[in-house]
Amino acid sequence: MPKQHYFDVLIIGTGSAGLMSALQLSDDLSIALIAKDKILEGSSYYAQGGISAVLDINDNFTTHIQDTLSTAKGLGDKTAIRFMVENAPKAIASLERSGVKFTKDKDNYHLTTEGGHSHRRVAHVADKTGQSIQINLLKSVKTKSNITLFENYIAIDLLIKSHSCYGAYILNKNTLKVESFISYKTIIATGGASKAYLYTSNPDTSTGDGIAMAYRAKCVITNMEFTQFHPTCLYHPHAKSFLITEALRGEGGKLILPNGKAFMHEFDNREELAPRDIVARAIDAQIKTHGLDCVYLDISFKDKDWIKQHFPTIYKKCQSLGIDITTDAIPVVPAAHYTCGGVQTNLDGQTNVDNLYAVGEVAHTGVHGANRMASNSLLECVVFAKSCANHINQQSITLTHKKFNQWDASRVAPSKEKVVVSHLWDEIRRIMWNFVGIVRSNKRLKYAQHRLNQIQAEVNDYYKIYLISSDLIELRNLVQAAQLIVQSAISRTESRGLHYNEDYPQQANQATDTIIKKS
Ligand code: FAD
Ligand code: SIN
Repeated sequence: MPKQHYFDVLIIGTGSAGLMSALQLSDDLSIALIAKDKILEGSSYYAQGGISAVLDINDNFTTHIQDTLSTAKGLGDKTAIRFMVENAPKAIASLERSGVKFTKDKDNYHLTTEGGHSHRRVAHVADKTGQSIQINLLKSVKTKSNITLFENYIAIDLLIKSHSCYGAYILNKNTLKVESFISYKTIIATGGASKAYLYTSNPDTSTGDGIAMAYRAKCVITNMEFTQFHPTCLYHPHAKSFLITEALRGEGGKLILPNGKAFMHEFDNREELAPRDIVARAIDAQIKTHGLDCVYLDISFKDKDWIKQHFPTIYKKCQSLGIDITTDAIPVVPAAHYTCGGVQTNLDGQTNVDNLYAVGEVAHTGVHGANRMASNSLLECVVFAKSCANHINQQSITLTHKKFNQWDASRVAPSKEKVVVSHLWDEIRRIMWNFVGIVRSNKRLKYAQHRLNQIQAEVNDYYKIYLISSDLIELRNLVQAAQLIVQSAISRTESRGLHYNEDYPQQANQATDTIIKKS
């Protein structure tokens, strides 16, 4: 008999959004925390640059709000941004209470800067901020007896009845059995969908599972066309998904061509510190114009010890690949980095489906609009995890044990065609990279949509007849997330922020969100 679990709250995802939500929930609640991989695996762990907050007496909330709004290109929600910015210093304090030790300059935070910020306001732990946050949050979680961790459990679909969520079907990857998790409240904290692209800064977990599950559960999905491409990922055949933090440009790093010539001044007067959409498009243009494989990022003019102290992770990684960043420029290319759109929520993380919340990169709270400002994502995770948990803490928990059918595996067989899954997986990522990338066109988007529709039909057929597996779950979600991105991109007949369509190069006068809901 497949297992049934009963918890007050089910949290799917153990990144900074999931762990912080669990920590902020009342100790009286029983909580299941689910990770489809190792608990620490996810984008949060790899965050380098830091987390933004007004922490300097010469900075102020108004400027942080203004910078965020201006980067968001008319689609930022001012109320949500104000809420996030005003809660940022408290978010930093709560991370410190969990044990995170931000880099200090004597008694003050060492604040760095990144694209779009008009003031130094990025608190960081050298260049491994995410690792420190994750390790410390997990340590705190492990002290709580009301929280149960489930590692290597991948959610398949939400349990929905009468437009209300009661948990999820989850595959135990250790036993390959599907278990039902019945809960009064469910929080999706599954991160983004950047794995839909061939080249990405993200770990393998970012397959858009939460967005796809929420879409199937009839949640409102907003602004999926805004995939953020990070301008500087390491270009090296043996460096899978390694980011070169924007903070390196914040500290003076210059983007150069192979002949040593700088080029960012030709694109924006903020040069290397223009928002990411501008820098990524500029690099893309240089690569295409000059027929290059990559451009270079140079910090070697700084003092050697200073570089090693501020960027120890990048120094070591590059050194392991034969690049000495204290003497050589670093080969870099843009790669898919962040999903600005996602499951629509209010300030408490509530979706339009009862008892279902979404927090972190999976959510669309409105704080990023058409382009996310650097280091506002970890901040969003922490601030909205707290407000979501507070909202749940205020409810009286009355779990009505609805009857749900057990997962039925009686009509499916083991697959002898696993190559189909890996082939389709690869094809989706190539389609997205080649046709739905930094610069888009109507023709390329239509082609992508046509082929993705076919792939989705093939995946659905496969799903109906073969035993469920982790790869198949992710493939089904990846194609769904890719389709949502393409559908949203097609419906936006303008260029704005991260979405650039050469058939509509102008920004429209009116800024409108792209909203999709399954009928
Ligand atoms: P994640 O940290 O990605 O966690 C997702 C969790 O969901 C994982 O535990 C995963 O196992 C789980 N999961 C997913 N699907 C399922 C499923 N079906 N079933 C069960 N579990 C599932 N932002 C900043 O603000 N500052 C930075 O300096 C910064 N640097 C970055 C550097 C890199 C290399 C990357 C990739 C991102 C960076 N970002 C940064 C962005 C930021 O790290 C992420 O947006 C943020 O950490 C997302 O957190 P999250 O908790 O929403 O998701
Ligand atoms: C970086 O360190 O460049 C990533 C920061 C971010 O994505 O916010």
